[in-house]
Amino acid sequence: MDEAFCYRDGELCCEEIALSALARRLGTPLYVYSANAIRARYRALARAFGPHPPLVCYALKANHNLAVIRTLAALGAGADTVSAGEILRARRAGVPASKIVFAGVAKTDQEIRLALEEGILQLNVESAEELERIAAIASSTGRTAPIALRVNPDVAAATHEKIATGRRHDKFGIDLADAPALYEKAASLPGVEPVGVHLHIGSQILDLAPFERAYARAVELVRGLRARGLPIRRLDLGGGLGVRYGEEGPADVRAFAELVRRATAGLELELVLEPGRFLVAEAGVLVASVIYLKETGSRRFLVLDAGMNALVRPAMYGARHAIAPLRAPRPEDELLEMDVVGPICESSDIFGRDYRLPRLRPGDLLAFRTAGAYGMVMASDYNSRPSPAEVLVDGARWAVIRRRREPEEQMANEEIPAWLEEPGR
Ligand SMILES: Cc1ncc(COP(=O)(O)O)c(C=O)c1O
Repeated sequence: MDEAFCYRDGELCCEEIALSALARRLGTPLYVYSANAIRARYRALARAFGPHPPLVCYALKANHNLAVIRTLAALGAGADTVSAGEILRARRAGVPASKIVFAGVAKTDQEIRLALEEGILQLNVESAEELERIAAIASSTGRTAPIALRVNPDVAAATHEKIATGRRHDKFGIDLADAPALYEKAASLPGVEPVGVHLHIGSQILDLAPFERAYARAVELVRGLRARGLPIRRLDLGGGLGVRYGEEGPADVRAFAELVRRATAGLELELVLEPGRFLVAEAGVLVASVIYLKETGSRRFLVLDAGMNALVRPAMYGARHAIAPLRAPRPEDELLEMDVVGPICESSDIFGRDYRLPRLRPGDLLAFRTAGAYGMVMASDYNSRPSPAEVLVDGARWAVIRRRREPEEQMANEEIPAWLEEPGR
């Protein structure tokens, strides 16, 4: 599809809806997602693989809103989950258990039980310790858990330090060198059936070469395991495809599909992909209001009603999101340099320095682009500010898919112990 977010009659729109109309009606901060942009991404990825695409298990961690999951599930997507909560969300949104994979470094007994009861496609095992735990729980309930070991290929993806996961010193997965023995062990344990190999090397990856190196190692492992008589039938290649935050991106899906084809040629394998960011990041914006344009002797600060409580990526990873005023700047508008900051009492509550924007006034609206992934899911109640609401736009239709959480609701499940209510306290 064409750009989901573009100016029409001087107004930034999401599909056919002017964002300012939504902001006026619903207030800000407000996340707005384009259903058709999500669909377009899913289709582009699936089609790049031709008639037999891999099972695309959407990584819920990127954006776990039920309506977003449902949009993808309706196209046939499965779900990559990392907690009981995400398994429940996937099921609630209509993802069949047979399309759910469950990863995560610390699966509790309760979560393992839920995964087994639901009968999900595969549990991705992160350690020898976890393997034994899954085997014990499954065999005690008379079940067999289909498992893949998450191997750590020791490949550095060219991405941010905090979102690289596939190097030996990262906490994720099992050393490749230890994998064959652990597979042998898994094959001998009751309650587990080793069906696959899993890996995930990191997120926001635009240079595809590290995928190629990592996948080559995984394929070598598959061959080695098969040579030992272990019938490995599935390869779960993880997520990680990058998107456009600034000038670069998104990842080239055709080249990616070609790379996967090359890496897995000649092997009969069911393939699984776990993209999160790639499917939803560019399909979402965060709309915020200007509270002040504050000028000090040395700097100019644009202070918004959204901060790290609404979108933490800049504070957490030093990420920089492009900003678009909802009213298109006119050619004669002077662009000024300003630091864009949130209202939270933390120095790290800054979206970035030296943005070039027109002289915005209190009440003016702007949008942070590429905010559909790792945005709302990481939002918090910090400073007791109302959480952002979320809206899904689909052509000319729109709906609130999550209400704003006001302070009253934030306090609703808190209690003051009775002894603090005693007189004299
Ligand atoms: C195991 C696993 N799969 C998939 C993903 C999704 O990654 P991305 O959103 O970069 O596609 C992650 C994210 O870190 C992950 O840890």
